[in-house]
Amino acid sequence: MAQTDGGRILIVSNRGPVVFSRSESGEREYSRGAGGLVTALNAVSRRSEDSVWIASSQSEEDARVAGEPAPYEVEDLCLALVEHDPEAYDLMYNTLANPLLWFVQHGIYDLPYAPAFGDDTRRAWEEGYVPVNRNFADAVSRIAGDEEGETTILLHDYQLYMTPHFVRERLGAEAFISFFVHIPWPESDYWRVLPDYVRRGVLESLLESNVVAFHTRRYARNFLDTAAEVLGAEVDLEKGVVYRDGREVWVRAYPISIDPSEFEELAESDAVLEQESWVSDLPGKLLLRVDRMDLSKNVVRGFRAYGKMLKRYPEMKGEVTFLAQLQPSRGDIEEYARYAEAIREVVGEVNDEHSDDDWMPIELSMEDNFPRSVAAYKNYDALIVNAIRDGMNLVAKEAAIVNEKDGVLILSENAGAREELGEHALTVNPFDLDEQADAIHRALTMPAEEKERRASALRETVLDNTIEDWAEAQMRDIEAYRERLS
Ligand code: G6P
Repeated sequence: MAQTDGGRILIVSNRGPVVFSRSESGEREYSRGAGGLVTALNAVSRRSEDSVWIASSQSEEDARVAGEPAPYEVEDLCLALVEHDPEAYDLMYNTLANPLLWFVQHGIYDLPYAPAFGDDTRRAWEEGYVPVNRNFADAVSRIAGDEEGETTILLHDYQLYMTPHFVRERLGAEAFISFFVHIPWPESDYWRVLPDYVRRGVLESLLESNVVAFHTRRYARNFLDTAAEVLGAEVDLEKGVVYRDGREVWVRAYPISIDPSEFEELAESDAVLEQESWVSDLPGKLLLRVDRMDLSKNVVRGFRAYGKMLKRYPEMKGEVTFLAQLQPSRGDIEEYARYAEAIREVVGEVNDEHSDDDWMPIELSMEDNFPRSVAAYKNYDALIVNAIRDGMNLVAKEAAIVNEKDGVLILSENAGAREELGEHALTVNPFDLDEQADAIHRALTMPAEEKERRASALRETVLDNTIEDWAEAQMRDIEAYRERLS
């Protein structure tokens, strides 16, 4: 990753790259943090010579690490863990960020019924979201304050929308702040669902950054519109600039990617090879989905579409298994618990209707088993990513790199990955069950030549824009911005 002149890079995200624990013999251990964002930032951080990654403490042992002098070195990463007040963190995470901001930005509220804001929302904002963000900014200013020269602060995602405001307050105009939003930025009208103090707070704070970045041009455009519509800010849609108190805020799109070599190595690791025989033993062709168990991923409609496909094309019975690897997520939020139930129900219905003595149409796995997911990446004939909305969706990119079967990608037209991969995938409307049923059938019966052509184009597209390119493009713009200032 390109270095900025002389300065240090601070990466800040809610989840860190590792979570610490203690072994039975009392030794400190760690495991990989959850989510696609962490995987991507990991690759960035490891490439930069002088970076510190600031993240929330997530375990008892993390809290101990947080109490030790920062940064803490693990492998080739420098970490600073932040401990938040547990009640404030709970309000931030379980009431304000997920579901509220997540639901609005993914368009998954059932608007005639929800949301309905009241005192609880204001409390979650004032006593949860805002203090947690202030705490992040305190950590940033502590670590940046130790350093001579320029510091570049890379803030990540919707848990941290208020952090630019507090960082600016603490470090002044000199601090270079780049804010990356990893989830969709919906049309400006959708922001009007949020209480005024939330939407104004979020927008005004984000506009304290020098750069606000997204995965797609569509989200960047929506952000510019929202700044104009909700705040009445002056924007230049062509140049992608918001003018704010005599400053320029650059609004940019950098599609995030993966480290292909990391996945190629993983694909040959013992842990993955061990899982591969299990995956290969599943009967028939393999239809796969790999997702965090999230409402935005559209899991229930995916199974219903598959059920429809089996009805429409009964000759496919026994010829395919749908493996769903769903990683448990946000289980303390009621809507997520209900969604897990809805998934089990629909799987039960499809399996009851179509299974026979030798064949189960759906194999559902609701556990965290990354090696098995990678083993399945290697072996799928069709991969379905039918999200209602998705910031990018890295599964589509990871899988394209390691798949050995010229597997076909079925891709939602509302996934950020569509801007890059859509041309080589079968794109679907995530709400249209008939269209998805036909796409599944088409993918599973596609002639070998067409499969080969599409799969190699997908692979080439991913190799053309890797995580390294993602980081480089941002650093180039940061340099360009700084040069304009000097
Ligand atoms: C998405 C979000 C990340 C989040 C991850 C996992 O990738 O963009 O910010 O960390 O999901 O969700 P969790 O709630 O477990 O952190």
